[in-house]
Amino acid sequence: MKNRIKLQKMKENGEKITMITAYDYPSAKLAQEAGIDMILVGDSLGNVVLGYDSTIPVTADDMIHHGKAVRRGADDTFVVIDMPFMTLHVSMEDSMKHAKRIIQETNAQALKVEGADENVLEVIERLTKAGIPVVGHLGLTPQSVHVLGGYRVQGKTKEDAEQLIEDALNVQKAGAIALVLECIPYQLSKIVTEELSIPTIGIGAGPYCDGQVLVYHDMLTYGVDRVAKFVKSYTNLNHPVKQAIKTYINEVKSNEFPDKEFSYAMENDDVNALYG
Ligand code: KIV
Ligand code: NA
Repeated sequence: MKNRIKLQKMKENGEKITMITAYDYPSAKLAQEAGIDMILVGDSLGNVVLGYDSTIPVTADDMIHHGKAVRRGADDTFVVIDMPFMTLHVSMEDSMKHAKRIIQETNAQALKVEGADENVLEVIERLTKAGIPVVGHLGLTPQSVHVLGGYRVQGKTKEDAEQLIEDALNVQKAGAIALVLECIPYQLSKIVTEELSIPTIGIGAGPYCDGQVLVYHDMLTYGVDRVAKFVKSYTNLNHPVKQAIKTYINEVKSNEFPDKEFSYAMENDDVNALYG
C-alpha cells in the first residue's frame, strides 16, 4: 500500500520523493494513476481552484470538502492536507480541534503546517504525540505573505539562512516527518537536506532536496496565467481546453452539434403513432 510509503527509507536510499498537489477527484485520480508518491491537498486551493488572491481565506471546511474528494480519487496514495491559516492563529485548543477534524473526516495520512514559531512547534509536537504525522513548511510560507512582504525568495542572507537552518532543526525536533522548503536558494536547501535526518521536499528550492513538489495547475498551466520562475510547465492545458470550448460554442451556434450521431432515435412506427 502506497498509503504507508517509507519516506525515511527513500531519503536514506537516495530515492527521490515525488509530490504533487490535488484538490478534487479527477486531479487526485490522475496523479495516483501516474504513480506519484505523495499528494498534497494544499491551501493553494485558495489561489488555483477558489480564485482568491492568497491562501489566507481558506477554511478547515474547505480543506475537508476537497480532501474528501481527493481521497475518493486516490485511496492508495499518501495524502497530506494543509492546516489553513485560521486554524493556526486562534488558540492551541482550536488548532487541535481542527487538526483532528481534518484527519478524521478526510482519512488523510498527515497534516502540513507553515512556519516554526513557538505555536507552530507546539502544534507539531502535540499532533505527533497524538499519533498524527505532521509535515513542516519553511522558506516562502504563503500564509505569511504580508509579513514576508510579498512572494519572493527567502533565506538569501547569512542571517536569514542561519535562522532557516535553526527553524528546520526545531521542526524536526518537534517531530515532523518531512519538511517542505519553498523558494530558497539551492545552496541553503542543500545544507538543510544534509543537516536533517527527515526528508526535505523542495518547491523552488533547487535539485538537492530529497523530493520535489509542484502545484497541479501550475505544472499543467491549467487556468493560471502567470507562474513563478521555479515552475516548469510540463504541458499547457489552457490552449487546448479553451480551443475545445470555442469549437463547441461555434458548432452549437451553427447547428452543427448535435447531429444524429449524438442523438437518440425511436422507431418510425412509434413516431408515426405519436402524430396519430
Ligand atoms: O499549498 C500548497 O500548494 C503548498 C505547496 C506549494 C508546498 O503548500
Ligand atoms: Na500550502
